Amino acid sequence: MTGQRDQLVVVSNRVSGLTGRGAPGAQGGLAGALEAVLKRRGGTWCGWSGNERGEFTGDVHINYRDGIRKATIDLEPQDVEEYYNGYANSTIWPLFHCRLDLTRYERNFGKGYERVNKRITDCAAQLIGPGDLVWVHDYHLMALGKGLRMRGIANRIGFFLHIPWPPVRLFSSLPFHERLVSSLLKYDLIGFQCDEWLENFLHYCRKDLGAAVDEQSGRIKYEGVTTHARVYPVGIDFDHFTALADTPEAQEAAWWLRSSTRERIAMIGVDRLDYSKGLPERLDGIGCFFERHPERTHDLVFVQIAPPSREDVKSYRDIRARLERKTRQINDAFSEVEFDPIRYVKRGFSQAQLYGLYRAARIALVTPLRDGMNLVAKEYVAAQDRLDPGVLILSRFAGAARQLDSALIVNPHNPVEIAQAIRAAMDMPLEERRSRWERLADNVRDENVHVWAGNFLHDLESV
Ligand code: G6P
Repeated sequence: MTGQRDQLVVVSNRVSGLTGRGAPGAQGGLAGALEAVLKRRGGTWCGWSGNERGEFTGDVHINYRDGIRKATIDLEPQDVEEYYNGYANSTIWPLFHCRLDLTRYERNFGKGYERVNKRITDCAAQLIGPGDLVWVHDYHLMALGKGLRMRGIANRIGFFLHIPWPPVRLFSSLPFHERLVSSLLKYDLIGFQCDEWLENFLHYCRKDLGAAVDEQSGRIKYEGVTTHARVYPVGIDFDHFTALADTPEAQEAAWWLRSSTRERIAMIGVDRLDYSKGLPERLDGIGCFFERHPERTHDLVFVQIAPPSREDVKSYRDIRARLERKTRQINDAFSEVEFDPIRYVKRGFSQAQLYGLYRAARIALVTPLRDGMNLVAKEYVAAQDRLDPGVLILSRFAGAARQLDSALIVNPHNPVEIAQAIRAAMDMPLEERRSRWERLADNVRDENVHVWAGNFLHDLESV
């Protein structure tokens, strides 16, 4: 199987639009961003099918749609356990989100990670033609660059990390951390979502690894290889997303929210059900608001949409139980005969439906404890009515806070700050809502997903 000439070959664990695991509506920002880029540029998208098969065959399933060639492989149950549930989602994900308390490391996880990286390398290597640009994504596939180089693939290969990079002391608690980073340094260009994650990475390379690092240009020299690390904040497909406004699906969803909340202010949260998203802490902030302003209990309804994710991992099942408990506690304390102040919806919604829900919500609460970027914040901004926009409350620990600094920025660990921001958002005069929104919308429009991909791929060709 050979590749077409000079195409873009994207590799990621999750490939959108396939039928395998991953709750509908919980696919996360990566899949949506890559789909938008590949639909516009064309190319190949290679990764895991999301399916498990008894025994690994290495067969590559090919499917063509919207100008994208999707090439995927099935994994064995042991792969899924050790690589996806294990190293990716029980070791790297919690560690990189600064949750050392939830981080589990087992030697089999590390072996499973290397095995699956090799399997996906084998799949990708068959698809890459001589002039192709190769772009690998996220924490599941950090070792792929090294694997491709060992197979003699000399193309430009870039890597983008969608999640944070942790502070040096935390990262160096990972067994064999040097091995992971030395694989990563085989890429030509490594992209991060914001300055803080890049600085943590460069700091580690200089301090722990002993690489020669030029902070200005992001150039890193290690074991005779030069690579570059830079910031490229991911955005949304602004035009596509705003074009959903007139769809019946979007209008129906907006109507559903408006008519069911009636004269109350609707506040919305939309997240994959993940402990990094700060959902129990968010509910504490809302509980604090109701305690401090009992006279306003009737003015506000909070709708939390949180489709389950990675349910084979215990910490994800635990967070679900915690969230259900807290929702019940607040509703028990503040509900009336005809109404509960908090609605927790576990299913996912289409992009058009989300557009309608965002538009009908006067406030969005986006309060992760740590988040690489957070595209919900950007989608909420894009969906607002320019004449009567809503207010975004955003965690200072989301990568998006670096760009969206006209939002109400809060510390998600402090319920009093969340409560104060809710109050300020409810009472904010129209003029202030408009001026804040205009600054936010300029950023979301200008720094969209195509600009992100264009900047990264331009640099990948020229570094
Ligand atoms: C985050 C990660 C993505 C991942 C997504 C959904 O956004 O950065 O790589 O695809 O979560 O998680 P899942 O485990 O379902 O792919």
